[in-house]
Amino acid sequence: MINLAHLNLDQIRLAIRGDAFHCPSANDFQFQPNLLILVDEHGDIAACVSDQDPAQAALVEALSQQGKLQQLQAGQYLLPGLVDLHCHAPQWPQAGKGLDLPLYDWLQNYTFPLENRYQSNEFAQPVYQDVSRTLLANGTTSAVYFASIHRQSTEVLAQTCLQLGQRAYVGKVNMDNAEQCPEFYREADTDAAIADTEAFIQNVQSLAGNQHGLVRPVVTPRFVPSCTPMMLSKLGALVQKYDVHMQTHCSESDWARDYALQHFGCSDVQIYSDAGLLNNKSVLAHSIFLTEQDIAQIKQVGAGIAHCPLSNMYFANAAMQTRELLDSGVQIGLGSDIAGAPSPSIFRAAFDAVSHSRVREEGVDVHLPANQRGSANARINFVEAFWMATAGGGQVLDSAVGQFQPRYHFDAIVVEASPFIGNLRIWPEFDSPRDILEKIVCLAQKENVKQVWIQGQQRL
Ligand code: GUN
Ligand code: FE
Repeated sequence: MINLAHLNLDQIRLAIRGDAFHCPSANDFQFQPNLLILVDEHGDIAACVSDQDPAQAALVEALSQQGKLQQLQAGQYLLPGLVDLHCHAPQWPQAGKGLDLPLYDWLQNYTFPLENRYQSNEFAQPVYQDVSRTLLANGTTSAVYFASIHRQSTEVLAQTCLQLGQRAYVGKVNMDNAEQCPEFYREADTDAAIADTEAFIQNVQSLAGNQHGLVRPVVTPRFVPSCTPMMLSKLGALVQKYDVHMQTHCSESDWARDYALQHFGCSDVQIYSDAGLLNNKSVLAHSIFLTEQDIAQIKQVGAGIAHCPLSNMYFANAAMQTRELLDSGVQIGLGSDIAGAPSPSIFRAAFDAVSHSRVREEGVDVHLPANQRGSANARINFVEAFWMATAGGGQVLDSAVGQFQPRYHFDAIVVEASPFIGNLRIWPEFDSPRDILEKIVCLAQKENVKQVWIQGQQRL
């Protein structure tokens, strides 16, 4: 029950009332019919008032008189905004191409030539506008972006996200290993790249209109094979100097894992840790071939994992240990991994995460007996997938998003089910709240995302 004594309605910017879902923990969803959410002038949640609370009716009356109340309609659902922990913005023009190749060939033949085009801001600008807009339209309110090695156009991406109001974590990619990176697409000089990365951090932090840090710089070594040990340790020094986020790829495939073992004699996690790159804001994409020791180390520093299930099916050579990772309590959310997978939708990533775990559980070889075919008890459920898409992602970023709780940022979306749009259909007489949430994860598309707020500002 809410204590009205602390609530000054003059300080409420807007109020939304409607049927709301969120997941406060990985195996717990809450459905709150006609929840009233009050948003303060900073865009944070001031209070969540249940329709069982006797105070709600008077608040609704007062707020609607002040013209601040939006009442959702039947068939509309309020959800926390989605969090995409891993998206390569410059690869958007390549989405849906070349996934028949293994990772190394895909990078060399498709990705590096395309990313090199971003030396031109004119090329970059419309693509980056379209990526940020497309993710927003799909309900992604927080996005963690790899850009390219070019500082200037990466700043264009940061400015674009700020302009569109998307909460974004943006990284200038670093890659300087002459043995692994083609001459046309690698840093000419390690120290110059570090200086550029430092300038990038400062420029993003001081962008006009970014006082509240809606857009943040991320230190971004591409992955172990593309970086010299010197590059990794100098980037580690920047992470510590500025206390900023770090993102990279981690033990993504047999080839990437074996490269680390052969050249460094240890795992990716150990390499990043030794370089001073691993902290509580680190986002480790993929993380397929983790050892028990790696998982313990990630957990101990409070780093997090970006699970990219569809991309894993093409590049990983093995299935993600999603069930074990969730059970271990390590921080984990979802990534689209555009363009290692083609879909910009985190609903799709959540659906794929469930399917991925189910294929792992059942196994694939029809010549084996059923009890030897798969990995017993490997499945995850739709609630866990939705948690990763929202609160789990928020935890990885150390960001107060993904749940409807006082003091969280009001990042939210309205999903609408109607016979006239998309494929999502709800039958209120026989769909329970759990059914509805599961249907949303399975069937919601861009067309169903009717409204998007970020930090209390409506952006769609
Ligand atoms: N590993 C190194 N670079 C990349 C990339 O661009 N995409 C994916 N999926 N994996 C990578
Ligand atoms: Fe990636």
